[in-house]
Amino acid sequence: MFNPQNFISQKMEEIKKAVGNEKALVALSGGVDSSTTAVLGFKALGEKLEAVFIDDGLMREGEGERISATFASLGLKVQTYSMAEDFFKALKGLTDPEEKRKAFREAFYQSLAKISRGKGAKWLLQGTIAADVVETSRGVKTQHNVLEQVGINPAEKYGFKVVEPLKELYKPQVREVAKALGLPAEITERRPFPGPGLCVRVLGEVTPERVETVRKATRIVEEETAGLLCFQAFAVLMEDKATGLSEDKKRIYGEILVIRSVDSTDAMTAQPTQLPWPVLEKITRRITASLPSVTRVLYDLTGKPPATIEFE
Ligand code: XMP
Repeated sequence: MFNPQNFISQKMEEIKKAVGNEKALVALSGGVDSSTTAVLGFKALGEKLEAVFIDDGLMREGEGERISATFASLGLKVQTYSMAEDFFKALKGLTDPEEKRKAFREAFYQSLAKISRGKGAKWLLQGTIAADVVETSRGVKTQHNVLEQVGINPAEKYGFKVVEPLKELYKPQVREVAKALGLPAEITERRPFPGPGLCVRVLGEVTPERVETVRKATRIVEEETAGLLCFQAFAVLMEDKATGLSEDKKRIYGEILVIRSVDSTDAMTAQPTQLPWPVLEKITRRITASLPSVTRVLYDLTGKPPATIEFE
């Protein structure tokens, strides 16, 4: 039986031993994995650890403010770095899912390399969990935070060594550890969000405008499914287009959004959520009312396997 308290004590010792008297950095994304890693890290290292939020322009609405407020309520400071331009530049012109994932990974670690050099931090605490490692090692997809398993030596390439205290855990155990560390329910119960953010939910080329469309739709899906039991619920923008009618009944060739909601425990397998029809209708109405460029809203009925949870 998994014991979160024993896990916390053991990992605090491991972090202390690895980092010693050097400085460390942790990058927050607002999710349960990175938040748990940060709080565990602060308990082990105190002021030797600094928490940063890299605003890559690919997050959900209001994420930076939410992270700062949550961590402030825990008595912890987070420094924000606005780096959206660097990420959009790195993703420009790319349409292949794996190329996009690799470009994101490189932009992410280059940002961290720059920040850690500035702070003289020799260590990075990272919230990689077992599912991330398994999927990358199996060649399913390049998770943004898996390095050594794909032959990248972070110390050589980026100038810092990596500690990954959650590497053996799956999501349900991470949530247990988060609760035992006293993290608020808004984090422990938060639905997962992929590290590369909305760039894997904008199929084809990633532009600020296309990301904004998905961001707005994501907010609507999250609001309308907030009280419902599901592992993840989100919107994805297709590359294809579909004919529709504008408000003044003119033909337009508009965008297609897919709504996806899945039930799962560990993200390794998943089933489509049987969302109530009125919820799907309301999501569709709200999306088409607030995003006139969208002419179709579809619902994904595929489980994992054969699909994966994300489209890319
Ligand atoms: P897939 O799409 O592989 O997703 O079925 C499984 C779970 O992992 C999340 N996901 C990621 N998380 N970095 C992450 O931290 C990534 O690169 C990444 N890709 C997918 C996905 O949202 C789901 O919860």
